[in-house]
Amino acid sequence: MDGLGVIRKVAGPLVVAEKMRGANMFDVVRVSESRLIGEIIELHGDRASIQVYEETSGLAPGAPVESTEMPLSVELGPGLLKSIYDGIQRPLEAIKRASGSRLKRGVEAPSLDRDILWNFIPSVSAGTQVTGGDIIGTVQETEVVTHRIMVPPSVKGELKKITLGSFKVDETVAIVETENGDAEISLMQKWPVRKGRPYKKKLNPDVPLVTGQRVIDMLFPIAKGGTAAVPGPFGSGKTVVQHQLAKWADADIVVYIGCGERGNEMTDVLLEFPELKDPKSGKSLMERTVLIANTSDMPVAAREASVYTGITIAEYFRDMGYSVALMADSTSRWAEAMREMSGRLEEMPGEEGYPAYLSSRLAQFYERAGRVLTLGGEEREGALSVIGAVSPSGGDISEPVTQATLRIVKVFWSLDSSLAYARHFPAVNWLTSYSLYLDDMSGWFDSNVHDDWMSKRSRVMLLLQEESELDEIVRLVGIDALSAPDRLKLEAARSIREDLLHQDAFHEVDTYTPLDKQYMMVSLVLNYYEMASNALDGGAPIDLIVNLPVREAIGRIKYVEPDKLLESYKAVQRQLAQEIGDLKEKQVDF
Ligand SMILES: Nc1ncnc2c1ncn2[C@@H]1O[C@H](COP(=O)(O)OP(=O)(O)OP(=O)(O)O)[C@@H](O)[C@H]1O
Ligand SMILES: [Mg+2]
Repeated sequence: MDGLGVIRKVAGPLVVAEKMRGANMFDVVRVSESRLIGEIIELHGDRASIQVYEETSGLAPGAPVESTEMPLSVELGPGLLKSIYDGIQRPLEAIKRASGSRLKRGVEAPSLDRDILWNFIPSVSAGTQVTGGDIIGTVQETEVVTHRIMVPPSVKGELKKITLGSFKVDETVAIVETENGDAEISLMQKWPVRKGRPYKKKLNPDVPLVTGQRVIDMLFPIAKGGTAAVPGPFGSGKTVVQHQLAKWADADIVVYIGCGERGNEMTDVLLEFPELKDPKSGKSLMERTVLIANTSDMPVAAREASVYTGITIAEYFRDMGYSVALMADSTSRWAEAMREMSGRLEEMPGEEGYPAYLSSRLAQFYERAGRVLTLGGEEREGALSVIGAVSPSGGDISEPVTQATLRIVKVFWSLDSSLAYARHFPAVNWLTSYSLYLDDMSGWFDSNVHDDWMSKRSRVMLLLQEESELDEIVRLVGIDALSAPDRLKLEAARSIREDLLHQDAFHEVDTYTPLDKQYMMVSLVLNYYEMASNALDGGAPIDLIVNLPVREAIGRIKYVEPDKLLESYKAVQRQLAQEIGDLKEKQVDF
């Protein structure tokens, strides 16, 4: 039979097989009698190098290898949401059930449950001309997400038949008469993970993905369809940032890839997400989430695949017209998996042993992000935002993975060990982080939040930069050398850091700040600075100005619950005017 080969050599996750006649590059294969799942990643004549997605211990030369003659693909359809998959889209629960507590190898479990009946409601009728991407009906997948059933990308023709009713994912719900005969459409599609799903056109990244995280939204915002990286040393808060975005970013769908991180970080997600309430719907966050778990104790090759599995699922929901946010924690572990496979293949190593194609793989991954006009006849917009954590060892961002990522992504939230050590969270360094979307998105912020949002942002950034310069002077000659206006500047910058940028992910209210509240907070801090500067000019003593009681009230605003916010905000404004006014009255005495 074509494609039935034999193992020649086993080297960890890499298996070399011979006599693989008829097999193709990237074919999925089943290895040995245990039918371990692998993928051909190199082919010379009939000799194939195979990366195996399961433990290879016990495999020996001579065992059979069979090609499935299909590329590594994912199943896309109702049932994705709330699922927890491994790196090659096997449902973790189902494989655990099939194999007991210890994962058995070679377990076949369909990615989408074949028994569930879904209620399909057609939205077009027979006789309609349809093309790839067109929505032909819907399934209420979870309480909060309507799954839009689309014509697969390559299908085009006249809809001959479409049926309302309850269907399993693989049953035919519609028939399209195409040039090449009838195409049966079910609720499910398959798609090869290493190939981006097609769309019509990329759109400008001019709408922000609002995250409710102040340092992000205010200083370094990410666009819907944008790309961001979160590099940071051990324990600096990368995972917390990713979790916060998964919980709070205004995305319809979240795909979370736990890639090579410790098992307990993933356990946090698994335990926490189902408990968490989606702020928009009040329902469990899992209702709109797909989790891919490939922890450090799972096979390394499956880690390489997990990012592709995740992003393909994310693209599919984007195609429906949703805003999707994908988090990958951590892309460094993915790169390490690439390095390991490359080493086993005895490829020529590049920097620090990573393969020469490291940057192009990273680029291909992030390029799959974007706000797009989706495939299909009607105008539909979808977005896929991608946020990758990067874990440079020792926090040294000059290492290859961080550097390659920096050249690709448009937003950089650089986490800083000294900020984390000082318990300033999120430990985003405001001097080294950036967002290249600011110009594109400034119009959105100014017209949707306040017309001086961007100018307030600039003032905040300026104060932070001036602070770092002044800090330098203070270090050299001491605080007493500073003029009173400079001391006030330092105080304003401190307030920006402590009252505005510092945000406690674990505080009920502080964990999420809507944009209008962010605007109130920044207004208070800047108002104080402006009024205090005037008072200083008028002769008020700096010591009184910096010790005004209102400063504490400004710092407490972040903890005020939404229903009391406006009232508190006004009260603090009044208090500010009052205290500054009192200073002026006293001024004559100075
Ligand atoms: N926004 C935040 N608010 C409060 N605490 C935070 C915040 N961010 C991080 N922390 C604290 O820092 C700890 C470490 O954060 P986290 O696990 O996200 O780091 P990490 O960079 O992912 O680490 P690792 O390199 O080990 O993966 C958290 O357990 C938490 O105590
Ligand atoms: Mg982490």
